[in-house]
Amino acid sequence: METLGTETAFEVLAKAKALEKQGKDVVHLEIGEPDFDTPKNIKEAAVKALNAGYTHYGPSAGIPELRETIAQYVSKTRGIKADSDEVVVTPGAKPIMFFSILALVNPGEEVLYPNPGFPIYESVVNLVGAKPIPIPLKEENDFRLDPEYVKEKITKKTKMIILNSPENPTGGVLTRDDLKAIADCIADRDDVFVLSDEIYSRIIYEGTHESIASLPGMKEKTILLDGFSKTYAMTGWRLGYGVMRKDLAQKVAQLQTNSNSCTCTFTQMAGIEALKGSQAEPERMDAEFKKRREVIVSGLNNIEGVTCKKPRGAFYVFPNIAGTGMDCRKLGDHLLYNAGVAVLPGTSFGKYGEGYLRLSFANSVENIKKALERISKAVKKR
Ligand SMILES: Cc1ncc(COP(=O)(O)O)c(C=O)c1O
Repeated sequence: METLGTETAFEVLAKAKALEKQGKDVVHLEIGEPDFDTPKNIKEAAVKALNAGYTHYGPSAGIPELRETIAQYVSKTRGIKADSDEVVVTPGAKPIMFFSILALVNPGEEVLYPNPGFPIYESVVNLVGAKPIPIPLKEENDFRLDPEYVKEKITKKTKMIILNSPENPTGGVLTRDDLKAIADCIADRDDVFVLSDEIYSRIIYEGTHESIASLPGMKEKTILLDGFSKTYAMTGWRLGYGVMRKDLAQKVAQLQTNSNSCTCTFTQMAGIEALKGSQAEPERMDAEFKKRREVIVSGLNNIEGVTCKKPRGAFYVFPNIAGTGMDCRKLGDHLLYNAGVAVLPGTSFGKYGEGYLRLSFANSVENIKKALERISKAVKKR
């Protein structure tokens, strides 16, 4: 257990809540979840499912109708041919990380992962006794990974490469050429898998989402992770999935049998409505995120010592705070305790996050403006 990491976002949230309990006003820009409510048609589908008796155990891999709907959705959005027996439905997308690493990675093997990146990758790789090999994401490269660096780091022990595009926390988006170059690195290696975290695939501001699974020969090597949390504002419902080759899907479903048994059945029925029903609400949310992105990026660039690139996807900004002369943890604490703004230090996402903060813009324009004013004053006052 000593090797298990965590997500600092939940710790900062706890500190912020403690301040609020003392009567302090805090603007929350630390947690990565849409502030919107789940669309009504999806909620109604869940109520209908409850009343129709979807209150029992279901198959470990997911309800067949949802697996089929996901297979069709993924086939259409990624331009691949996915079958329903290649889909495993899980409570949130996170278990796909946990299960696929547990299923595939042996002690002593190596896993390449983006850094700064979602902290759970490194945590689970450590837990299984494997070696996490960070791939630094650099601002000068728009926070896209460098395929040449990936190539250099691949060894006989490499078992998995983790990709995340659009990326949390940087908003970086991998291009088709990036993905081709990565696929080339493992073209002759059938023993290396790619865990492709595409949870933000629908929240993209420039260009289109590309999946490595759609490249020749890559579908069989890819575990595609996606879910409902971000696109449909369904974080609390816990509904996600993985698409992977059938033999692996069977093993991942078996891990589910050994842990959760199955995913909540009435939420799965609501998932069918999410994918098949009107997409007007997620589109409205995306348009709103786009507006907020403009506000937060230009606001941050007006603050002394801070520069901020426009994220190409997801709902986070990753401003460079080197000019403030403070390290990211100190600045994060300063903003929380002296300005009432909760943000995350870049190092919550790994050592290459030093010199940055992560702010979520899944909050109203009004709150974002309030936070920007407070940050500006607090940075000046130090
Ligand atoms: C990159 C990334 N992958 C996966 C997840 C987990 O999604 P879920 O809530 O569906 O488990 C998150 C949530 O923050 C994320 O940022």
